[in-house]
Amino acid sequence: MIPPGARLLDVGTDHAYLPIALLQSGVVEAAIGADVRSGPLAQARVHARSAGVLDRLDLRQGDGLKVVTPGEVSVAVLAGMGGRLMLRLLQQAPDVVAALERLVLAPNTHPAEVRRWARTQGFDFVAEDLVQEGRHLYPILCLAPGGVLPMAAAAEQQTPLTDVEAELGPLLLRQGHPLVLEAARRLAAAARHKLRGLERGGGEAAAVERRRLEQWEEVVRCWPKWPI
Ligand SMILES: C[S@@+](CC[C@H](N)C(=O)[O-])C[C@H]1O[C@@H](n2cnc3c(N)ncnc32)[C@H](O)[C@@H]1O
Repeated sequence: MIPPGARLLDVGTDHAYLPIALLQSGVVEAAIGADVRSGPLAQARVHARSAGVLDRLDLRQGDGLKVVTPGEVSVAVLAGMGGRLMLRLLQQAPDVVAALERLVLAPNTHPAEVRRWARTQGFDFVAEDLVQEGRHLYPILCLAPGGVLPMAAAAEQQTPLTDVEAELGPLLLRQGHPLVLEAARRLAAAARHKLRGLERGGGEAAAVERRRLEQWEEVVRCWPKWPI
């Protein structure tokens, strides 16, 4: 998802493993790693020095994407943080975001809100992936400012996302990604659990959750046939 030669910003870089790997493999020649806390940056410096890339990794302390000026980087990665924090950081630096060629997002929570934001902001969905480590599933989303995809593909991306697309990923659904079935099963289990609590009170909230549960059960039943 990171184009070779990208001018990279890794937001919330923590140990800086991502920029270090990209520098070592030669995908990027230089990178900026940023974090709001000084502790992670000190660790990042130690790791980068022992990996032999400290001279090409610019470590900056600050809030989100505010550590760069618009156009200073071509690709930004925000990984390993909650989707809502991610949206706050993106929304508070619109000039930096507007000048990006690629935006790579790996939200730990609320992926549907992140995908809906991306669609309403006119980003093209370039690629999506879903990765399992231990029992966790991590969605990864690669976005580009609207207008870079061929016209037919771009037109397809104008329509609002359905609930299923927002939650499970429009490209992951279309490509029949093997982990989508597991993701849908987990959403169904979570909805079932929530519904058990709500049914004691009944009402509109329970009805909404029941509809969501039916949706996930339908994906599981029909998979990999999608859209149904
Ligand atoms: C769990 S780590 C993720 C590390 C790495 N990106 C990854 O995916 O493995 C989250 C990092 O985000 C940083 N962070 C939290 N809020 C931030 C903000 N407003 N601006 C920059 N970094 C932030 C934290 O300090 C922490 O180092």
